[in-house]
Amino acid sequence: MFRLFIFILTLLIVISCKSEVKKNRVFSSSELIAVKNHSYSNVNEINTTHLHLDIAVDFDKKELTGVVRHTMNNTGVNRVIFDMYGLSIEKVTIGEDETETTYTIGEELPTLGAPLIVDIEPTTTVVNIYYSTTDASSALDWLAPELTMSKEHPFLYTQGQAILTRTWIPVQDIPSNRITYSADVKVPLGLLALMSAKNPTEKNDAGSYSFTMDQPIPCYLIAMAVGDIAYQKIGENTGIYSEPALLEEVAYEFTDLQKMVDAAEELYGDYLWETYDVIVLPYSFPFGGMENPRLTFATPTLITGDRSLVSVIAHELAHSWSGNLVTNATWNDFWLNEGFTVYFENRIMEELYGKEVADMLAVIEWQELQATTSEMINNGQAHDTHLKLDLDDRNPDDGMTDIAYVKGAFFLKTLEAAVGRENFDTFLKSYFDTYKFQTLTTEDFITYLDKNLLNKFNIEFNTAEWIYEEGVPENHISISSPRFEAIQLHAKQLKENGTPIPNDLKRENHITQEWLAFIRNFEGQLDPKKMRAIDDQLNLKGSGNAEIMSEWFVLGIHSGYLDIREDMEAFLKKVGRRKFLAPIYSALVKMEDNKSWALNVYKEARNNYHAVSWGTIDEILGYQQ
Ligand code: BES
Ligand code: ZN
Repeated sequence: MFRLFIFILTLLIVISCKSEVKKNRVFSSSELIAVKNHSYSNVNEINTTHLHLDIAVDFDKKELTGVVRHTMNNTGVNRVIFDMYGLSIEKVTIGEDETETTYTIGEELPTLGAPLIVDIEPTTTVVNIYYSTTDASSALDWLAPELTMSKEHPFLYTQGQAILTRTWIPVQDIPSNRITYSADVKVPLGLLALMSAKNPTEKNDAGSYSFTMDQPIPCYLIAMAVGDIAYQKIGENTGIYSEPALLEEVAYEFTDLQKMVDAAEELYGDYLWETYDVIVLPYSFPFGGMENPRLTFATPTLITGDRSLVSVIAHELAHSWSGNLVTNATWNDFWLNEGFTVYFENRIMEELYGKEVADMLAVIEWQELQATTSEMINNGQAHDTHLKLDLDDRNPDDGMTDIAYVKGAFFLKTLEAAVGRENFDTFLKSYFDTYKFQTLTTEDFITYLDKNLLNKFNIEFNTAEWIYEEGVPENHISISSPRFEAIQLHAKQLKENGTPIPNDLKRENHITQEWLAFIRNFEGQLDPKKMRAIDDQLNLKGSGNAEIMSEWFVLGIHSGYLDIREDMEAFLKKVGRRKFLAPIYSALVKMEDNKSWALNVYKEARNNYHAVSWGTIDEILGYQQ
């Protein structure tokens, strides 16, 4: 007995010391549970290798109910800790014979949720959790029929990244653990269910669908969409899904999908996920795109009719290598996902549409990076301009800035310039091959980079400065765009000399990115009369292109150009993409008059957004429900 006591005491001391050393937050509820990399899970002791989901989708109750069966690799421990948030647990059983077992739920913290601690046997390898989701399951966006195109059927989709999978499935929600998964999903008749897995292409009469994802993925990539959805094939292993009424337009917009996949494979090796499809979701989707494996989720704001925003699809496709195949081990290494992807996206765009277009995209991003970097440094957040982040005790969403994306991409572009494109491509190709279906940290990458590129070619490079220091190092490459310079000249003349606007300045003669460069050249202020004259000729405020509209609205707000209000209100009530909403609401709160207008609009619009966007906009407006 005494021996056992000493053993337990030693174990507790060891556990707590370990947590101290690693600067973990020690969490005390019923037991000591450490949070590491935004997860409570004890993946080093026991980890899920396969997960099976058996759930029913209830649109009336806005609830998923069912069971998740974890097949686990157990090193011989007697408890397993999962992450959960906003879930209601009914019971937990272990083993194939489903013996009911005891469990504890720790205190729920705002972002991380709570640990679900399940008592098991040292030999247990199967854990079944019976549960349902609740109103607090923020991954889920339940849309009433009015919020869809047809206005006839409800719609549901999930958003897992970064740590929202735990809000709809109890899981070990940490990107360093890879799992395969399968699912049986029951939905109301007349609706189709899709997942980030092998998918059906049409509805069946039973309303039940089965899925498998045989390649191991981090659990933030588990995703589902349910609605009145139709499919159209695009190429050999590519296709699109959307509401039936939008299908034709989507097919037109993404007609180059197969070419993108082919170009990407040519660059960095085989596409290892078999099929690549894109689903265009309803307007509330909070992102431009989300790289759910085999099935990218995309915003309908990409459907502009002129194929000018397809770089977002190139981006999500590129994640099939950077992110989905080779994954950031922790959210502090997020740039490994996004920086590589922005770099890769640009290469795909260059292959398909030429260097001129690719460079325009890069210059737009560079401008955004400049703005973000100086804002962060001025706001005392200089540490957030490091590529390697420190997001401990913060929401990993805070890492989704131009730093990970654009500074990351420019780091790689600068490396490419230093070693030459051919060497760099060989390096990247072998990087993806070496680490496929694995996760790595920034430090793992640095070691690989030194060995396989820098030392090999005897090149001195300021890697540490790029990764661990503030701002953007001096040796960054510079990109220019002659077409931008031309349209910027128009903007300059308009600003200085005023109207009339040259007759040959027409919307259809310039791509989206040129219009962004045009608007940005006014540097945040323009005489409202000039804005009106521009709108009379070019109708930017009503252009239907969300990229252009949102930048034009922000300029209009700062310039006191009130004509935008009607279009802006309609926009805010329709579009839920956070990248557009945040700058508009941020500009509006700066003046009392605009702020009360914004609050009124938001009260109605909020319900049309996903919880991811509420989080950001509530904070901007100081909104409390
Ligand atoms: N993976 C991201 C979206 C994301 C990141 C969701 C972090 C949650 C947490 C996706 O690939 C992305 O970057 N989307 C961008 C597209 C753009 C950079 C082309 C977006 O939505 O704007
Ligand atoms: Zn991305």
